[in-house]
Amino acid sequence: MDYQKVIEEVYNEVLDENPRGKVATYIPELENVNPDQFGIALVDLEGNVYGVGDYQVPFSIQSISKVHTLTMVFHVFKSKLWSRVNVEPSGNPFNSIAQLEFEKGIPRNPFINAGALVITDALCSKFKEPVKQISDFINEISGQNCVKIDHQVKNSEKNHSERNTAMAYFLKAYKNFDNDIAEVLDVYFSHCAMEMSCVDLAKSFSFLANDGYSIFANREIVSESHARRINALMLTCGFYDESGEFAFRVGLPGKSGVGGGVAAVMPHKFSIAVWSPELNEKGNSVKSVKALELLTDKLSFSLF
Ligand code: DON
Repeated sequence: MDYQKVIEEVYNEVLDENPRGKVATYIPELENVNPDQFGIALVDLEGNVYGVGDYQVPFSIQSISKVHTLTMVFHVFKSKLWSRVNVEPSGNPFNSIAQLEFEKGIPRNPFINAGALVITDALCSKFKEPVKQISDFINEISGQNCVKIDHQVKNSEKNHSERNTAMAYFLKAYKNFDNDIAEVLDVYFSHCAMEMSCVDLAKSFSFLANDGYSIFANREIVSESHARRINALMLTCGFYDESGEFAFRVGLPGKSGVGGGVAAVMPHKFSIAVWSPELNEKGNSVKSVKALELLTDKLSFSLF
């Protein structure tokens, strides 16, 4: 399979069609990005990298970091984790608070903001220097020192954090939050403000395409069974209230972020990251989703 040729075709077709959306504005600093950027990086299981467009430009990974934090926490707490956070699609926007009350402080899944805050809280209970350890972990599984925190993005989110702060207090009221709220939020904003390029991100997801083993870290990151479960969560919940549509159109486990990135895996074949900042109303990158749809059509395979 000539992956380079296929991603170049995809890239050109998306640019020809030029679907448009809007960059995220609720984190004001995210507006200061050139909306026309677009890149694709695919990494196969031998570590070969195929890239096109702005695939080496670092961008704000935002919610994609929730896959990295979930991996760290799942590895430590194993199935006990699921008493604190559920594994069902929410059918609601990523920042919705409504379901939390009906469901007594147990978030629907680890990728909506409420669930990710529980994961970051659990991480803070076990790791002494959480931000450093998240960065070290991502650097290790991508095989290079690639992670930087954009402090302007972090502070911009912190200064507009009413919803996430409310959610953390709500979780605390239901006794599903153990640590100091401000400290956990600081860690959460830091991991969301991490910057990586498509190529670094695709490498950091490679273990999920490879039964839990990272060829970049040269070790098993999680067991094969944990890798399957993380992939199942990405397939069912990785795109919030658009997860069904992503599974329908693309058919790969993946995770989006409001910086415009999407990382996805084709188990036993490759990991891929696509980035373009303009989003649809559900908070998912218009060009990135289109590119992945064209990719699985051209390859004639997906999970299904
Ligand atoms: O908590 C937030 O709202 C952001 N730091 C992350 C949200 C996000 O990336 C949702 N993804 N599409």
